[in-house]
Amino acid sequence: MIFENKPVRFVPNVSAVGCFCECDGKILLLLRNKNDAFEGGKWGLPNGSIEQNETPEQAIKRELIEETGIESKNITLFKKLYLEYPYEKLKYYLFHLALDELPEIKLDSLEHTAYKWISPKEALKENILVDLDKLIKLYYEGNQIARSKEWWDKFWENQTQDFGTARKELLDFAEKFAEGKEGLTAIDVASGNGRYAIPLAKLGYNVTALELSSEGVKRIREYAKREGVVVKAEQGDLVLVCKQKREYDLVFCSGGIEELDKEDQLTTVKGLMDWTKPNGLNIIKFCLEIEGRGKLVESGNIEGMYKKANWQIIYQYEEPQIRESVANITFEKKLRTSTIVAKRI
Ligand SMILES: C[S@@+](CC[C@H](N)C(=O)[O-])C[C@H]1O[C@@H](n2cnc3c(N)ncnc32)[C@H](O)[C@@H]1O
Repeated sequence: MIFENKPVRFVPNVSAVGCFCECDGKILLLLRNKNDAFEGGKWGLPNGSIEQNETPEQAIKRELIEETGIESKNITLFKKLYLEYPYEKLKYYLFHLALDELPEIKLDSLEHTAYKWISPKEALKENILVDLDKLIKLYYEGNQIARSKEWWDKFWENQTQDFGTARKELLDFAEKFAEGKEGLTAIDVASGNGRYAIPLAKLGYNVTALELSSEGVKRIREYAKREGVVVKAEQGDLVLVCKQKREYDLVFCSGGIEELDKEDQLTTVKGLMDWTKPNGLNIIKFCLEIEGRGKLVESGNIEGMYKKANWQIIYQYEEPQIRESVANITFEKKLRTSTIVAKRI
């Protein structure tokens, strides 16, 4: 498991370095000796532990010479990451080295028995080390790694933080949909502190709030109690829960989809669509991009799913420009969103 932010109570027992050596669109992979106790017989990056009194940069330069014979001058640090496995916790410095021409590779045969230059896309199809796929996607596809439950717990523990007051225009769709109906069920997924779940309950919906963070769940329960409404707050990972068979009249999601790994986004939306009863409604709002985090959701893909499934698009709006966020947080202050309201026919 890889984290971009240090999870709470994460105490690394090793500091290590690794490097994408790149030449002409191809990266260097090394085949680990098959007798190696750790993932022998798999392809990996040049990497190794940081020795005492070494900086990460000195360590990767040394490892590159030892493992490949490459002398690296213009090496750049891409990211510091946190890697967690049952056997160890690592602080991991990931570097990138751009090479003008293919260097001669001199392997240390005790560690590696072969090497190859391969495009990052093709590398994903090889028998590669655990989590190397994530590193490749992170560097070459700009894929974020979804924030962990611990990250969100820390976020919601801080009582001064939230995403602002609920947006009336979203609740108006829910209100209109509920007109003249009784006993409607709704789920607010990635519910946060319940800033939408509680108003939805006030509109008369029987609301379930699904949230990854147990601190978020606590805040939903406190908020519901303060407002005198009943909300069933459930702790769970949307990516997994959306595969369950469930049924709701309204599925609501504000600011959840962009927080998932890219590869989980569309399957999750499909899960939400499947949860929706015939004539039911989806209100989905997500960030297309956030300053500092780049493009998070592919514009048009989600709307395309609703159209392909012949849902009636009631409202669709993509903000044309990045704007100041109204969230009560001190980071990620600028973003651009997309909103889709669609009815299952
Ligand atoms: C940007 S906040 C939005 C919160 C809320 N919906 C709102 O509009 O204020 C994203 C929320 O998604 C939650 N989250 C992130 N990944 C999740 C997952 N895999 N399953 C469920 N919730 C998740 C986070 O804990 C956080 O509360």
